[in-house]
This record gives sequence, structure tokens and C-alpha cells, in this order.
Amino acid sequence: MIVAVPKESSAGERRVALTPDAAKRLAAKGITVRIERGAGEAASHADEQYREAGCEVVEDRAQLLAADIVLTVGAPAEDDPLKEGSVLVGLFQPLTDHATVRSLARRNVTSFSLDLLPRITRAQSMDVLSSMSTVAGYKAVLLAATSLGKFFPMLVTAAGTIAPAKTLVLGAGVAGLQAIATARRLGAVVEAFDVRPAVKEQVESLGAKFLETASEDLSAEGEGGYAKAMSEEQHKRELELLHKHVRDADIVITTALIPGKPAPVLITAEMVRDMRPGSVIVDLAAEMGGNCALTEKDREVVKHGVVIIGKTNLAATMPVHASQMYARNVSTFLALLIDDGTVKLDFEDEIIQGSCITHEGKIVHDRVRQAVKAGSA
Ligand code: NAI
Repeated sequence: MIVAVPKESSAGERRVALTPDAAKRLAAKGITVRIERGAGEAASHADEQYREAGCEVVEDRAQLLAADIVLTVGAPAEDDPLKEGSVLVGLFQPLTDHATVRSLARRNVTSFSLDLLPRITRAQSMDVLSSMSTVAGYKAVLLAATSLGKFFPMLVTAAGTIAPAKTLVLGAGVAGLQAIATARRLGAVVEAFDVRPAVKEQVESLGAKFLETASEDLSAEGEGGYAKAMSEEQHKRELELLHKHVRDADIVITTALIPGKPAPVLITAEMVRDMRPGSVIVDLAAEMGGNCALTEKDREVVKHGVVIIGKTNLAATMPVHASQMYARNVSTFLALLIDDGTVKLDFEDEIIQGSCITHEGKIVHDRVRQAVKAGSA
């Protein structure tokens, strides 16, 4: 059984799918682990550490990819010589990146995209989305703190008293809750809102205030604990609720997403105009169109004096811990695919079935197939 880890292909990607520690655990199970030369360098792991962990460091990409299972973070390059019938595991965003899905089916690779894992208790230790959202939520607050010309904590100094920064977090899923916790640790006063009323208690347990309206129902809980799109009327009421709080905030971190849909706009251009100059918005939904109407994907812009940060893939900016968490998750998933030293795929298992996108030359995931079909129609 050969498991291979290539160097990531996309620009700016600094994570690596297996850390030396995780590779060592696989090698101890009798698995041959091959790593491309320099694959861990951007995540501060030298080739030598992988050798010490029992891995083979391989220079030639074609030789490396002649493996039973290939582990990556992002999609492989179009011209990577993946072996027909081999297994590929990574994070491929198949609901939006249709070109990659088609290419993997064409290349006859059995591919698993970990962003499709069902959010069930048994899959928690494989939940790459939660791991990466944890990193993104934390980093978003740090980016905001370095852009804001103010302190986060309240300070009583000989030069007078400094008021604490006001932070508003929109969307209190994994990233939002981590952003709340990080902003609180830095001493900010934090408010938060989510359309799933169930998170109120979690928000409050982190020392933040959950925004509520007395009578209007703004809940929009969908399947599997995710949010669903709101009605137009609800969305209008949500914007009314948020306007005053956005105006008063020094920092707004937005994380609101609806699976497979464009991100809901929660901060209109008019709201940005009403904010104090120097305030900062970090829009973690930039990849899906953004929660702020003025966000520009992968750019930092200043609009009406407000800094709007639309950087995507924040997890790649903290490659050491992001790779450590990813490697742990992917190793747990890998254990499901291997039985007695060979690849055995049990398509009755809802984790395997739920995350498999291509197999035997076909797109086998219903939602992905429909999305690809709709995209090419
Ligand atoms: P996500 O990244 O899909 O969305 C982020 C947040 O935005 C969600 O909390 C969502 O309710 C909120 N949102 C959507 N539209 C909004 C709007 N118009 N206004 C305000 N907020 C809005 O969510 P994430 O972080 O992936 O978590 C989704 C759910 O999955 C949560 O219930 C989480 O607790 C659950 N979960 C379960 C796990 C398990 O059991 N294995 C592991 C991780 C998460």
C-alpha cells in the first residue's frame, strides 16, 4: 500500500496534506508513505523530518503519483499523471469547481472531497471544514486587529481611559464562534447574530451578546444543522436589525454561508457608508460572493473610509497548525478506506458515499452531478 503526498499546485497554498507526525503514524501501520521533495517546506517541515518519520522523499512527480492513494489539500494540476483507478483525497469544492470534477472523472480516479463529509458525530474527527474554519475565524480577528487604528481591550492609563473595541460577528458557525472567542481574548466587546437560534447559548457562553428582536422571527434553520436561505421579508428584517449594530461597530467579521448558494448580503453599501471611518470589515464569505456588498474577493479595499478585507483561504496563511489539523483529519478518513493493507471501499458507509465525487469514470455524487450538469447547461 503506497500513499503519496504531492507538493500543492495552487498559488499561495502553503499547507501540506500530511505532517511528519501523521506520516510516522501511517508508516508504523506498514503503509509506504511517499512525499514529494519540498512538499512540507512552506508549512515549516523539511524533507529530512519526513525521512526521519520513515517516509520516502521522491523528486519525480510521475513516480510519486504512481501510488494507491494520493492525499492533497487542493485540486491536483490538470496535467498531473494520476494513476487510473487510484484514490485521491482532498478538498476540491466540487459544488463550484466543476472543471476539477470533470477532469477527475475523465482521468478515472476515485476521488473523495472532504468538504462533502456528512456533519455526523462519527465524522467529527475527520471534519476538515471545521478545522479550517477554526483557523480562518481566528486569523480574521488578527487581520482586523492589525488594520484597526485602535486597541481591542479597555485600558486605564495615565493618558486617559481607552474604550474597548466593538466587534460584531455575523454567522456563528465554527468560524464565527472562533472569531468571537479570539476577539474576547483580545478584550473586545462582542455582539453576534445567526439565523440558527440554537447558537444563542454558545455565543453567550463565550461572553458575547446575541442580537435578538422582540417579536420578529428571523430563524432560518435548514437540513443537517445548516442554515437555509431566508424569505425576502425575513432578509429585509434582518438587514434592519443589523444596520444599527454595523454602524456602531469598529470591526465586523462576517462568516454567513448557506451550503451550495451564494453568500447572503448582510452589509449593504449604505451600511458601510454609515460606519465610522477607520472601521474594518473582514468578509470570510468572500469566496461565495461575500456578505458585504462592497467586498472584492482576494483584495483589501477602502470604501467610505472603511477597510474591507476579502482575502480567501486564510487557513493557508497559518500553514503549521492548519496542516497539523488537516493531516489528523485526513489520516482518520484514510483509516476508513484501508482494510488489511489494501484499499477497500464500502459504499454502504454514509461517510464514504457522502464524500465520493468520482468513481469508475463517472460523477457518483448526486448533488455534485446536478451542480455540474446545471453549470454546463
Ligand atoms: P457555515 O460555514 O455553513 O455557515 C456559517 C454560519 O452562517 C452558520 O452558523 C449559519 O447559520 C450562518 N448564516 C447563514 N445565513 C445567515 C444569515 N442570513 N445571517 C446570519 N447568519 C447566517 O456553517 P458551519 O460553521 O460549517 O456550521 C454549520 C453547522 O454544522 C453548525 O450547526 C455546526 O454546529 C454544525 N457542525 C456539526 C459538526 C458535527 O456534528 N460533526 C461539525 C461542525 C459543525
